[in-house]
Amino acid sequence: MAITTKSFEIFCGTGGVGKTTLATSRALSLAGENRVLLVTIDPAKRLKDLLGLRSEDMGEVTRITFEGIELDALLMSPEKTITRMAASYNTPDLASNRIIKVLSRPYGGMNEILSLVEVQMQFDSGKYDVIVLDTPPGAHFLDFLESLGKIRSFFDQNFVEIFNYLGQKTANAGKKVFSFNIINKVISGGVKKLLSYLQKVTGAQFIDDFIQAIQIIYQSKEAFLKGLSLQDRLKEKSQCNWFLVTSVEQGKPQEAIELRSHASHFIHEDHYLVLNKCLENELRDWSPTDNKLKNFKSSLEQRESLLKTKLRESFPEVLEFPEVTSISPKDHIQHLTQNWKKHASQS
Ligand SMILES: Nc1ncnc2c1ncn2[C@@H]1O[C@H](COP(=O)(O)OP(=O)(O)OP(=O)(O)O)[C@@H](O)[C@H]1O
Ligand SMILES: [Mg+2]
Repeated sequence: MAITTKSFEIFCGTGGVGKTTLATSRALSLAGENRVLLVTIDPAKRLKDLLGLRSEDMGEVTRITFEGIELDALLMSPEKTITRMAASYNTPDLASNRIIKVLSRPYGGMNEILSLVEVQMQFDSGKYDVIVLDTPPGAHFLDFLESLGKIRSFFDQNFVEIFNYLGQKTANAGKKVFSFNIINKVISGGVKKLLSYLQKVTGAQFIDDFIQAIQIIYQSKEAFLKGLSLQDRLKEKSQCNWFLVTSVEQGKPQEAIELRSHASHFIHEDHYLVLNKCLENELRDWSPTDNKLKNFKSSLEQRESLLKTKLRESFPEVLEFPEVTSISPKDHIQHLTQNWKKHASQS
């Protein structure tokens, strides 16, 4: 069945199976007829090298040309997203608070939420028909999507209001008289203990920064909540294609099956399993005369055929992509782009 293009297309899967290569080639295959943005939150930045992006392009939407095809690409940089949010929501403190700076470093813990906020901001710009998202390996991104409800409730909870109130009080009172009396009145025992402990080990400045961080995250809640609302759209069959990528290499398909069952609440049932690096075509054209090689060929063929049967039973749709026999990643992308076009025109 031909693949219908959706507003969001997400590539996930375990390590090294070809997510970045397939996401890039998918974006290129759509670029002629659609306005496409390719976003990667892949910390390996492989895409940067592949597409000839410079370090200064990190975090900025950059127009690239690959073998004559033009495309917008964005390598996620959490700091740049924070700066953009601060500008569009008029909250300059967001970019200058020390705690938020730490949280928005790569691996600082805000990477995923900021990616969603960024994707939503880019979509809202109205410039794109399709956003293709390449995710880091493993279940982390999917786990994160599942945990978004907790972040949503953070913005609903009264304690943010309390921090707002505390922040105003401490600002009015000046830094020296950070008032634990107020804390005593309004905050539960656990938070109280935590804050007094933190004050002992970090000094009052940290507490001020901490309260300010919570306040300004709260002031920017519209951006965060919009980012969170993306979660619902990604669950919609009409809005999002999920490509769960795996390869024929030993152990990889089993990892994909586990990943899918792990994330089954999140990935809607019309997802695709993308089976990469298939050897079938290469093997068909290979006619060894040596007996050992003949046996080797037939065992490889058998293994792949069994694997495909098993996967077709377990997944609603399996898309096959061949192993490209070249050592150049550019050739891989180019070949796989043509393969996406073939899949798209199949009926
Ligand atoms: N169909 C293919 N044929 C041959 N080589 C491929 C194919 N697909 C991907 N590759 C190569 O395999 C390597 C890993 O690919 P890629 O970086 O896309 O994987 P990934 O899943 O994004 O990895 P990571 O989990 O590290 O993000 C790259 O060198 C890529 O060029
Ligand atoms: Mg990758």
